[in-house]
Amino acid sequence: MERSYSRLDHLIISIDNALRMSSGETVEAKRANPAAAVPEVVMDETRRRHAAGLMRINHAGEICAQALYAGQAATARNPEVQAEMQQAADEEIDHLSWCKQRLDELESRPSLLAPLWYAGSFAIGAAAGLAGDGWSLGFLKETENQVEAHLANHIEKLPAEDARSRAILDQMKIDEAKHAKMAESSGAFDLPQPVRKLMKLTAGGMKAIAYRV
Ligand SMILES: [Fe+2]
Ligand SMILES: [Fe+2]
Repeated sequence: MERSYSRLDHLIISIDNALRMSSGETVEAKRANPAAAVPEVVMDETRRRHAAGLMRINHAGEICAQALYAGQAATARNPEVQAEMQQAADEEIDHLSWCKQRLDELESRPSLLAPLWYAGSFAIGAAAGLAGDGWSLGFLKETENQVEAHLANHIEKLPAEDARSRAILDQMKIDEAKHAKMAESSGAFDLPQPVRKLMKLTAGGMKAIAYRV
């Protein structure tokens, strides 16, 4: 029998997810790791640390994605929008899992501020959801567009020999573009320019910190 969840159930599930993800626990991906067949190349210490810093940013970004989607799903009014957000959120779990695996391979760790990234992003997602589905989808579309551009930048910044990280980011970029399209076709509003700028600034601060901490 299929179980239907109340808003309280969703909230409890979100808090449980938050605790698991913030603690750096490995989450299970539904799809195979895109780097699975890509051979590992041993990098020198400087390059390995640089690649780990970039992948830590991406892992932190995926924690934010989990929190944003959870916040938005908790407040979305339209069940169809809620279902679409859930499907995208499932793919973000794959991203989170792949980034964590890569961090492990690079002998590094997730951001120590993961609980902060999760809590802040959940609040922003819930606020966007409360503003109504059109604005919430608009926020989602803009986020995914910015993440796609950010990933293109990171793919260039990775050490040339780090083909395993690149394979993961390539697939993530494809997925994020799909999420933006989904938001658009579901009726996303266009966000005002100052809001987009603020989102870029916030993400920029988070990236600078997560590269190191
Ligand atoms: Fe993602
Ligand atoms: Fe996404």
